[in-house]
Amino acid sequence: MNNSPIGVFDSGVGGLSVFSRLVKLLPEENYIYYADTFNLPYGNKTKEELVKISSSIFDFFQEKGVKAVVMACNTTSATVYEVLKSKYNFEIYPIVQIAAKYIAGQEYRKAGIFATAATVNSHAYKNEIQKYNKNILVYEEACPQWVSIVEKSLFNDNESKENIKMQLDKMLKNDVDKIILGCTHYPYLLNILSKYADEGIFMDPAEFFADYIKNDLSKKKLLNDSKIYKREFYVSSNHKQFEKASSLFYKVEQAKEIKYNQKSMQDTII
Ligand code: DGL
Repeated sequence: MNNSPIGVFDSGVGGLSVFSRLVKLLPEENYIYYADTFNLPYGNKTKEELVKISSSIFDFFQEKGVKAVVMACNTTSATVYEVLKSKYNFEIYPIVQIAAKYIAGQEYRKAGIFATAATVNSHAYKNEIQKYNKNILVYEEACPQWVSIVEKSLFNDNESKENIKMQLDKMLKNDVDKIILGCTHYPYLLNILSKYADEGIFMDPAEFFADYIKNDLSKKKLLNDSKIYKREFYVSSNHKQFEKASSLFYKVEQAKEIKYNQKSMQDTII
């Protein structure tokens, strides 16, 4: 069990902002990263669609014999974690629920959440934070264009910058003292965001999330005790674009493209 892999997934390169921290903390683990670019963006999908998609990814990980699945995707953590959490035998780490508990323990007066439309509509961040701390006011704001800016590496486009500034200005009007990047794609935009506001106002939950996973695996005596390990990357479409967009947090040299099959997701390498 201990040398079984850890599955990590997201709709694309976003989850690499979590993955990069995990491999820094736990370099000697076996990892399988799955980027579901075929279904990207997740943020405008319904809960039913996301349950179907996530179930097939969980089944894929189960076939791979993982010991844990890291939901390095806020959208699926927010919408389907509760549905899937008791259906599998491996550990499941959902970013929203784990990050929200941490945020609730901070001395924030007003917290802003930038996230996908599906995450915002679920109010998972607000509900989870206020479950532990009713004193923090939570402002949720959907940023529908940001995932595609990151996946297509459109960082230098004026349109991208204008959109980012517009969303940020809107959030700052709430006088928030912290802005949580509640989508794993958004830390890729920190360079642009910090041109318009103090970098210290932004919080990437991945940092705490990775620490939590390390401690929990260690507590449960699930850390790899062998010195042999590997990292595998799978992508459900356009592996070249994924490899190109991957560089900021973790450079993926080679990702295997696997044919998307909602029922079994066999490893049919194209
Ligand atoms: N990066 C994911 C998240 O954290 C999903 C983005 C998307 O595909 O819309 O929510």
